[in-house]
Amino acid sequence: MPEIDKEGERYQADRPQAAPGFFLKGAHQYDWGMKNRLARTFNPKTGRTVMLAIDHGYFQGPTSGLERVDLSIVPLLPQCDALFCTRGILRSVIPADCTKPMVLRASGGPSILREELSDEQIAMDMEDAVRLNAAGVGIQVFIGGEHETRSVRNMTRLVDSGLRLGIPVMGITAVGKSMTRDAKYFRLACRIIAELGAHYVKTYYVEHGFETVTASCPVPIVMAGGKKLPEYDALTMAYKAVQQGAAGVDMGRNIFQSDAPSAMLAAVNAVVHQNMHPKDAFELFRALKAKG
Ligand code: 5RP
Repeated sequence: MPEIDKEGERYQADRPQAAPGFFLKGAHQYDWGMKNRLARTFNPKTGRTVMLAIDHGYFQGPTSGLERVDLSIVPLLPQCDALFCTRGILRSVIPADCTKPMVLRASGGPSILREELSDEQIAMDMEDAVRLNAAGVGIQVFIGGEHETRSVRNMTRLVDSGLRLGIPVMGITAVGKSMTRDAKYFRLACRIIAELGAHYVKTYYVEHGFETVTASCPVPIVMAGGKKLPEYDALTMAYKAVQQGAAGVDMGRNIFQSDAPSAMLAAVNAVVHQNMHPKDAFELFRALKAKG
């Protein structure tokens, strides 16, 4: 019988979890290689990351804004802390002299032509992640979804091989169309993903109780961007997420579908790394956009 959930109680969100000797929650007892890859992905000065997510093609093909990654994304690379992409795009388009950390999409299967997206498999060997000098890998976990058990097993297999080779695994909460996106669901999903070994978790922001999602997850949470919003709203969401305990963002469409992606990325950086208020960040966005 599941415990009665007392929303908001007992999470003590104002008392950060200690990580003696390392800057990142839950990571202080890992080995050197794992820590080093995390320290490349998350900025050790702020403990946060601005990861640019461009992996959408793994199930959507040429998504709006990603039709030509060479033209739209490569020029943005200096402005992000890490890139989340597929190994196909990495090998074919991303210049090998780029020193940004690369986090690689490691699951796949159904395309958007299918109803049931949870039917995923591991889509990459960890050995290839090492060959590509990846800073981490990312995988969907469909808690409550039709193929929940398989997606959990996919993740735990990746975690086992990641631990052997020192590669962090980002577990991504993939929410089925019929599920309620609230703090209760995300607490459950993020905690399961962390308990089963993911080194950090990507999840969505929710208006009520997001601080309970971050507080009850023993590893860092990065906020997923989701559908394109007006820039001010996306900056506000990122601001609230980091103020409520997220260790940064992994945003895609809200950056590359903006009509000024470089200006938007600069504004997101200011929100995440300088705690810039959304109003000021939006002004920064507008000023940089006007400059072209
Ligand atoms: C969905 C994913 C996506 O593939 C992608 O990274 C999402 O980015 P955004 O929603 O910010 O466009 O991980 O869970």
